[in-house]
Amino acid sequence: MSNICVVGTGYVGLVTGVCFADLGNQVFCLDVNPDRVEKLSQGIMPIYEPGLNEIVLRNVNAGRLRFTMSYDEALEDAEFAFIAVGTPSGADGEADLQYVRSAAEGIADAIDHPIIIINKSTVPVGTGDWVTEVVSKRRAGKPLDFKVVSNPEFLREGSAINDFMVPDRVVLGSTDQEAAKSVAHLYLSLRCPVVITDLRTAEMIKYASNAFLATRISFINEIANICEELGADVEQVAVGMGLDKRIGSAFLNAGIGWGGSCFPKDVKALAHMAVLHGTHPQLLQAVMEINRNQRRQVVYRLRKVLKSLSDKTIAILGLSFKPNTDDIREAPSLEIIHLLQNEGAIVRCYDPQAIDNARQVFSEEYQKKSVVLCSSAIEAVSGADALVLTTEWNEFKNLDFEQVKSAMRSPVIVDGRNLWNPEVMQKNGFIYYSIGRGNYNQQAQTGENGQ
Ligand code: UDX
Ligand code: UDX
Repeated sequence: MSNICVVGTGYVGLVTGVCFADLGNQVFCLDVNPDRVEKLSQGIMPIYEPGLNEIVLRNVNAGRLRFTMSYDEALEDAEFAFIAVGTPSGADGEADLQYVRSAAEGIADAIDHPIIIINKSTVPVGTGDWVTEVVSKRRAGKPLDFKVVSNPEFLREGSAINDFMVPDRVVLGSTDQEAAKSVAHLYLSLRCPVVITDLRTAEMIKYASNAFLATRISFINEIANICEELGADVEQVAVGMGLDKRIGSAFLNAGIGWGGSCFPKDVKALAHMAVLHGTHPQLLQAVMEINRNQRRQVVYRLRKVLKSLSDKTIAILGLSFKPNTDDIREAPSLEIIHLLQNEGAIVRCYDPQAIDNARQVFSEEYQKKSVVLCSSAIEAVSGADALVLTTEWNEFKNLDFEQVKSAMRSPVIVDGRNLWNPEVMQKNGFIYYSIGRGNYNQQAQTGENGQ
């Protein structure tokens, strides 16, 4: 059993802290947001993550998990201090490390015994050295026995607890291999491969992994765009490709592309690091451009079918950047709504979990009624000239399409996640478009032109 402090109770810090508690450790989760700490202490989750409520309550009741705003309290017996605060993109794509600094300084000011400080947040290559400097400077005159270890997270929102408990690997980096081995010990019961390397290499493994996953998605989206013109079906292309063990089938779902608080920020940060150090990340630039273009394509398609979008009503099903999360950060839906608003369209949105987060983003438009937040899919499609599926929530899989069609003003659908079956949709009388299924989209074209 170890004593662990986790700074930051966001999507990553909270999952990290509660899972370490579930493994039998004593964990303090610290946050600077009083509302968040208060709610967590009352068993109210600040984020939606399947299974989080139960595992937090179980560990709070077992006395293994506590929440605080006090570094003194959180670090009193701590042997490990994880930094899991936000590292948002700065203006030019560089990761903003102000919160990492304040966490490192908070630890340096409060700690009075040897500590291992672990960077859990995604931080630019070299940040481990930088945190070492920050802490050393902060402790000038008051020597502290501390080590810094990089331990990047590979948690997907919506499956974060499982990704923590059943990881493909744990990655650790440090100038002190003993410190890295001590952190490795925390993960021992998970019985997974552990990679121990130096700080910069561990930090790069995180960026390279996310950038590669984003590249796979932009690759299949480029293939989808080519399939569109050549009359092929990208869904079946992906199946045929994925059976090759060297390729695999994961992360080959064509659609409106990647969003979230990680891929956009991490790919941008990696490209920025590359340029800063005199290399030319042309592949990463193309990966980002393809991704941006996927959103534009949806609006282009709508404009083609509806002629003008001004004063048209468009239903958006799904606001979160992916299913099973309430996180709307960098969600493709937000960009599509922005593009539609620029063309004078009225947007009616529904999402099973993310409406409250969306209300904060669209407060102005919400007042002007140019963005209407609805409480069901049917309410969102009522009177709509077209429907865009942006997030493939399970509850959208089997909508009552007769009811949908009769509620809409015109039966036009753009399926941004290829969730539905084109033949079924066309049989239901929809003018149905999806991404990269050129064979079906050409039929839709015929249907639309009434030939
Ligand atoms: C963060 C990083 O953004 C991401 O790059 C990394 O991979 C994982 O950690 P996330 O958990 O989504 O991701 O961050 P966020 O949801 O923004 O939560 C950060 C939490 O840290 C917030 O609750 C915030 O209040 C807290 N925080 C921020 C502190 O406790 N101290 C600070 O100084 C700043
Ligand atoms: C990602 C990484 O998967 C995870 O390892 C890392 O720690 C954090 O970033 P996350 O952003 O939570 O996790 O979600 P992920 O499931 O990777 O999806 C990211 C985006 O890619 C979503 O917008 C999703 O809709 C999109 N996506 C994913 C596709 O468009 N196609 C795919 O095939 C897979």
